[in-house]
Amino acid sequence: MKDKIDINVLLANANKGDRKKTLGLFDLSILGVGAIIGTGILVLTGIVAATDAGPGVVYSFLIAALASGLIGLCYSELTTSIPNSGSAYVYAWATIGQKIAFFAGWTLLGVYITTTATVANGWTGYVHSFLAEFGINLPNALANSPFNGGIVNLPAVIMIFLVTFILTKGTSESKQLNNILVLVKIAIIILFVVVGFADIDRSNYTPFLPFGVQGIFAGASTVFFAFLGFDALATSAEEVKDVQKTLPRAMMVALIVATLMYIVVSLVMTGVVKYDQLNVPEAMSFVLLEKGHNVAAQIIAAGAILGIIAVVLAFIYASSNIMMSMSRGGFLPKKLSILNEKTGSPNKSLWLIGLIAAICAGLLDIKNLAVFANVGSLCVFFLISLMVILLRKQQPDLERPFKVPFGYTIPILSMIVCAFLLFNLPLNAYLNYAGWLVIGLVIYLAYSVRHVDPLQSMDDSDVSDVVDGSDDDLDVDMG
Ligand code: ALA
Repeated sequence: MKDKIDINVLLANANKGDRKKTLGLFDLSILGVGAIIGTGILVLTGIVAATDAGPGVVYSFLIAALASGLIGLCYSELTTSIPNSGSAYVYAWATIGQKIAFFAGWTLLGVYITTTATVANGWTGYVHSFLAEFGINLPNALANSPFNGGIVNLPAVIMIFLVTFILTKGTSESKQLNNILVLVKIAIIILFVVVGFADIDRSNYTPFLPFGVQGIFAGASTVFFAFLGFDALATSAEEVKDVQKTLPRAMMVALIVATLMYIVVSLVMTGVVKYDQLNVPEAMSFVLLEKGHNVAAQIIAAGAILGIIAVVLAFIYASSNIMMSMSRGGFLPKKLSILNEKTGSPNKSLWLIGLIAAICAGLLDIKNLAVFANVGSLCVFFLISLMVILLRKQQPDLERPFKVPFGYTIPILSMIVCAFLLFNLPLNAYLNYAGWLVIGLVIYLAYSVRHVDPLQSMDDSDVSDVVDGSDDDLDVDMG
């Protein structure tokens, strides 16, 4: 038990309220849609249709959506029982122990940073093709990482720093920008569907499964990336109004909106152009250009450039929350959890995350970063599903404002689906993940072991207040 954190400390922290509760159902759903819809649908759909699943990519999306839904339900039970921004890291600390907690948090940090870098890289692709239509060509050396024949992917680096800067100005300011960007993103997807619909040629759906059923599953493991982001909502738990109700609802709203959009986009895309021609990174613009809709294609490219920024915003925000939470627990230096007095945002964490993500986006191989994100997140999601079961057994009386129905069926199904998707991912993704864990191990042994703070700088009276249920005066010093 010593190795675990007292759940009452976590509840006290969550109630303590040093972060303003500014996010309602609308904002949180928009944040979810903002985090989910991005490079995945804009870049991966065409590639997966061409190389893995054919028009059956729609089934790949459905499998990935089902997996995300199951995982989302498990997340909701944990997040509403322990509303703390540390997400998987704190749940693991409460149910398993500090080592697994560290590695869950460390994995999430790696996943969110690599997702940010992957998405920023896909963004440069759309900037490139948008400018090319006006005859402006970005110099190869400054628009590609060394792995793609350049020196540095400068646009991605600049975009990440800009987004980080905006986030340091506080959640409510970045929230407004995010809402606008998400609306732009939804608008271009609707535009694509409306313009493309009339050009659907049913003969393009034959064969529907050119690579067989196996192709659908391989595709599902890849397009799972398109759903990453629903989990990031859990990291905003401390800034959510009425978190117990708002969070599970927002997660489901965001997942349903994204799934509907993915289904329609993949059906239109593979209906307008034969699947074997879709192996291009900017498939949405490509499909419309093929049918002579040049203006719509340019509007979509411009909208993608704006809309993808929302994904980067959501992931940098989520990473900073994890980093801040790990720092509060003493796993990382305490300075990283200091909130800026004016804006209430963890600026030191934000800049550190922004810097690492910019280095990854500028210099590393993007395909490897993307599959790393899939392996890391599926490992965390497996753990999340397992922890629902563990927490129910360890804390049967804990108040659970949201409980996954049908006993253990859904957490077990969720674990099986995660294992199945993990099984379909390439070996190099596991090797990179192992490398990240080794770096984590060095930090854990060199720093965390000596600084872990299971009381999170609270004195016993604060904790007993919560145990007694009298948690209305939890003005404690968090350092
Ligand atoms: N789901 C996010 C995207 O597809 C990561 O961009």
